[in-house]
Amino acid sequence: MKRKIIIDTDPGQDDAVAILMALASPEDFEILGIVAVAGNVALAQNARNALKIVELSGRTDIKVYAGCERPMRRTLVTAEYVHGDTGLDGPNLPAPTQQLESQFGVDFIIDTLMEHEAGEITLATLGPLTNIAMALVKQPRIAERVKEIVMMGGGCFEGGNITPAAEFNIYVDPDAADVVLRSGIHIVMAPLDLTHQMQSTPARLERIKAIGNRAGDAVHAMLIFSERFDLQKYQWPGAPLHDPCVIAYLLKPELFHGRHINVVIETASEHTIGMTVADYWGVTGRVKNVQFLRSGDADGFYDLICERLSRLP
Ligand code: RIB
Ligand code: CA
Repeated sequence: MKRKIIIDTDPGQDDAVAILMALASPEDFEILGIVAVAGNVALAQNARNALKIVELSGRTDIKVYAGCERPMRRTLVTAEYVHGDTGLDGPNLPAPTQQLESQFGVDFIIDTLMEHEAGEITLATLGPLTNIAMALVKQPRIAERVKEIVMMGGGCFEGGNITPAAEFNIYVDPDAADVVLRSGIHIVMAPLDLTHQMQSTPARLERIKAIGNRAGDAVHAMLIFSERFDLQKYQWPGAPLHDPCVIAYLLKPELFHGRHINVVIETASEHTIGMTVADYWGVTGRVKNVQFLRSGDADGFYDLICERLSRLP
């Protein structure tokens, strides 16, 4: 049975790998649309990058929408220092020929959820949660219609990556994350605790390069570019690969292990704003609102990435 999904994203090289995995899996996913959000770089660039990724895959049947161009309350913080000025530096992908859809991405999310049966649609989020939160604010009734949200974001034992306390997707729009985590929607979280285990070592990058198709070559060039910052920062054998964990979970959940816990978002404190306060040991008694993925099979994860990328042109 195909899973109907909407992908919300700020591509981003790691977003691109996740999106390509989904586009390579038509027997697993009915992708209802891809919605860009401001995050890694400005919205217009993220949306343009999403169009480039769709065209790279050959899946020009997929529609791309632009969502929110800034967080709900805070000033937008971007990450060109990781992803390059285009947000997708590395390969030299051609300018997209496909146009963005004219409908506002938040309205697309609302209308699609309201038009489908409750429990049919999964939201796969790869960036800040602004679009999802704004959809919940504009039409609260969508909360009982979403099957589940599978999101990349947050951290617990690994701390943060843009501040000592906060992971980038949550930090950019902590208010949106707070709205989503309070929504009552079933949430699966792929935090830094998981994604830091999924390191793109030289051997794994070589496997991607050896795929030998257009998609594999582009992904290799993307990761070689985006790894610079993290290799310098962490001094690990490979840079962590974040967003593909969301699609990998949807394809092979058995690769991952987690615990159902309470997670709340810090939205005010100067030093910890954007922190996912994860009650891993159940000391608060607060409602368990998140399936928190803490570990995974990294070799199986890269096997899956290579297998799916090899299906593309
Ligand atoms: O912290 C990692 C997250 O921030 C990933 O989604 C990456 O694409 C950036 O958006
Ligand atoms: Ca992202």
